[in-house]
Amino acid sequence: MSTTGIHQDLEVLFSRESIRQRVMEMGRQIDRDYAGEKIVLVGVLKGAAIFLADLARSISVDNTFDFVAVSSYGKGQRSSGAVKLIKDLDQPIEGKNVILVEDILDTGLTLNFLRSLLERHHPRSLRIAALLDKPSRRLEKIDADYVGFTIPNKFVIGYGMDFAERYRNLPDICLMPPDMEPH
Ligand code: IMP
Repeated sequence: MSTTGIHQDLEVLFSRESIRQRVMEMGRQIDRDYAGEKIVLVGVLKGAAIFLADLARSISVDNTFDFVAVSSYGKGQRSSGAVKLIKDLDQPIEGKNVILVEDILDTGLTLNFLRSLLERHHPRSLRIAALLDKPSRRLEKIDADYVGFTIPNKFVIGYGMDFAERYRNLPDICLMPPDMEPH
């Protein structure tokens, strides 16, 4: 199967329909876990923006959202070590139920860094929702509480995820063609 439009040669890993269904299931699970409570969704820019927009609309418990941004060395490629905060939270999260929302849990460096950073703000609870998980790439021990799909060691684009800032707008999650793969 291939995606539509100008990127029609790309191989689709997860179609927009399967993403929609899985994100709705994740929302229902979050609703059950936080019934009667309030949550703050903290999205990691830019990759998680589209996932957060859909996840937030699949959640019926009272929720607000905020965003953080990090830079990791070597933009557009797999992260390679140093992670730096380039946009902090807008609102305090002390005493709140926080879900950190990320597109991909890969080496774990980004989410480990962000988890420690957010913990210093003393939230009431802190969980992680990752649309994709690549456990075979992990360098630091970290698990997400909510995972959309577990995938092998392949570079993916679309649904918010980029290669050198491109392809974020693809509605499906596609495999990066091998001849373009970053290494
Ligand atoms: P980690 O710190 O290695 O876990 O990196 C997570 C970040 O690396 C993600 O938020 C993405 O920005 C980026 N990343 C990792 N794998 C991919 C991929 O397959 N496609 C696009 N971005 C990726």
